[in-house]
Amino acid sequence: MLEEIVVPLLEWYDKQKRTLPWRSKPTPYRVWVSEIMLQQTRVEAVKPYFARFMKELPTVKKLAACPEEELLKLWEGLGYYNRVRNMQKAAQILVKENKGEVPAQFEELIKLPGIGKYTAGAISSIAFGIPVPAVDGNVLRVITRITADERDIAKDSVKQAIARDIQEIIPMRRAGDFNQALIELGAIVCVPNGPAKCSECPVAHLCEARKQNIVMELPKKAPKKARTIEKKTVLLIKDGEKVAIRKRPKKGLLAGLYELPNVEGELSEDEVLKLIRSYGLAPLFIQRLEDSKHIFTHKEWHMTGYAVRVEELEGDAEGMLFIDRETVEREYPIPAAFAAYAKHMNIILGNKR
Ligand code: ADE
Repeated sequence: MLEEIVVPLLEWYDKQKRTLPWRSKPTPYRVWVSEIMLQQTRVEAVKPYFARFMKELPTVKKLAACPEEELLKLWEGLGYYNRVRNMQKAAQILVKENKGEVPAQFEELIKLPGIGKYTAGAISSIAFGIPVPAVDGNVLRVITRITADERDIAKDSVKQAIARDIQEIIPMRRAGDFNQALIELGAIVCVPNGPAKCSECPVAHLCEARKQNIVMELPKKAPKKARTIEKKTVLLIKDGEKVAIRKRPKKGLLAGLYELPNVEGELSEDEVLKLIRSYGLAPLFIQRLEDSKHIFTHKEWHMTGYAVRVEELEGDAEGMLFIDRETVEREYPIPAAFAAYAKHMNIILGNKR
């Protein structure tokens, strides 16, 4: 049954696929980097990051040798920073053990840090033409709809069963295109948010969910645990030229990145002024900034911000660094969670610089 989708899907892909930078020259390294970036991040957001990354680090060897802060700066704003840390670890292993070459075997790829079944499948099939599935959220949505599969796609056993079904039908000569066609259909026709565009779908006539009128009820996914909410007060402490930043701890959320100083809870102006004085700094004036929210996988930060002008940034309170704005923007990776406040110092984060 499912095998009937192969031909119409490939014909559709040949005509309708988007022109994407990593599709034009699908070398193993380019496929790897793009697939890692595309996990958790939209295609449009990835494009400029991908271009800049390939320019700065065009080879596995360059990636392996890149100083950590430069690497994090290239990733700044993309989030999930362990993705790039793992990619570098994997690159270092490949330089040591495989002459800097990306291996062509699924079993070798999956041993590398940060490469799971999906990424190993994508690299094997797209870059090397090996007929293995690459099952991401798009593919799960497409397949559960076509087959009216009401099982919970959060379960690994269900993902594996769907991967086995795809393994049965994957065309030997066009494995990479087939996987990408499934992903593409999920991204632009059988979309995750909003109504599916069934009138544009090349396999609508084969779609069981459509026949049963349950397209929008699929895929079924057990609800995740609610995120915990943390209140924070973020401080933009500045003198005439410099701003205070500090390095986050080596472990945990946003490990090793830089941040604007911040404390737990929602502080009043008076409490902030007291805190600033406790750092050995002399506040001249204070301004409340807008509230801001940042959503992580398991928690949300609900932030209040203050800009505090101090007489002079000096001393070494609480491990703070006092750095001029251009240098911060150029050299210090600061996660997007702080973007709302950094912009008041005219510090632009991410790829928009
Ligand atoms: N999302 C994940 N992988 C993708 C790819 N290769 N092309 C487009 N969107 C994707």
